[in-house]
Amino acid sequence: MNKTLNKKILITGANSGIGKATVLGLARQGAEIIMVCRNSAKAESARENIIKQTNNQNIDILIADLAEQQQVRALAQQIIDRYDTLDVLIHNAGIFNTKRQETIDGVESQLALHLLAPMLLSYLLLDKLITSAPARIINITSMLHIFGRINLNDLQQQQKYNGLKAYGSSKLANIMFTRYLAKHLQDTGVTVNCLHPGVINTNLGGTPELLKPLLSSPEKGAKTPIYLATSPEVETTTGEYFVNCKVKKPSRACHDWGLIDALMQRSEQLIHEPLAPQLKKVV
Ligand SMILES: NC(=O)c1ccc[n+]([C@@H]2O[C@H](COP(=O)([O-])OP(=O)(O)OC[C@H]3O[C@@H](n4cnc5c(N)ncnc54)[C@H](OP(=O)(O)O)[C@@H]3O)[C@@H](O)[C@H]2O)c1
Repeated sequence: MNKTLNKKILITGANSGIGKATVLGLARQGAEIIMVCRNSAKAESARENIIKQTNNQNIDILIADLAEQQQVRALAQQIIDRYDTLDVLIHNAGIFNTKRQETIDGVESQLALHLLAPMLLSYLLLDKLITSAPARIINITSMLHIFGRINLNDLQQQQKYNGLKAYGSSKLANIMFTRYLAKHLQDTGVTVNCLHPGVINTNLGGTPELLKPLLSSPEKGAKTPIYLATSPEVETTTGEYFVNCKVKKPSRACHDWGLIDALMQRSEQLIHEPLAPQLKKVV
């Protein structure tokens, strides 16, 4: 294999759907990849399959259940110890819960996986990313954020749970996190962007089997994450929401800085990890 892309890229939820297709595309370009998965058998099988298709042997696996904060912390420590640099961090792992579930930390699961895990892992890896700069953080959000609402009095969707609203709210929170971190990382050489991948045929819950053949392929879903991870066009772009490799305006709430700051303050309490004070920018 001809190595062209000289980047070390970590991606969560890498064994299936959009995550696996993203690994495949990046491996084809010669990237060094760290696949973060929660199930080692599924991870090994995806890795073997990708190596067979690309002949790129530079694919590591790290195992962590990202819904558990202790496991996110252990994962971050492993990454810090094992790798000298990290160029791209892609937060892709996701779920869709029709019934309300809580993690071992007592947090509503979609909020835990789509907001708190990306926040905690990013915060713990910021030193590594800043010393590796130029570096990129990429969050996979969803156009369904338009159905979400950030209610600071019911952040964990305890009153009248609705799966779509809870999913949308966690993805809205993910966009707010993107904008917040981008603002505070300005001048560090680390960019933070997010994207909607399209409506894609994957293992994600919530789509009736009947409709699945009508959806786009995971390879199509991987286009924007691969673009954001590799394109020189977006080297300095930060704090943006992308659809089909183009900047789009997310819903109005994503521009409410009072709400963003309040959400992030509350979330930092939930992860027991503040943003490093030297990065805090007063704007
Ligand atoms: N499909 C769509 O149309 C669509 C649209 C908009 C946004 N998205 C977003 O795209 C991302 C990828 O989803 P997908 O559609 O590719 O679905 P998918 O095929 O179900 O992939 C989700 C991945 O996340 C992993 N994961 C789930 N919970 C985890 C946990 N607690 N810890 C670690 N890994 C965990 C899964 O691992 P297992 O295989 O072990 O379960 C799997 O690898 C998600 O963030 C999703 O919300 C998807």
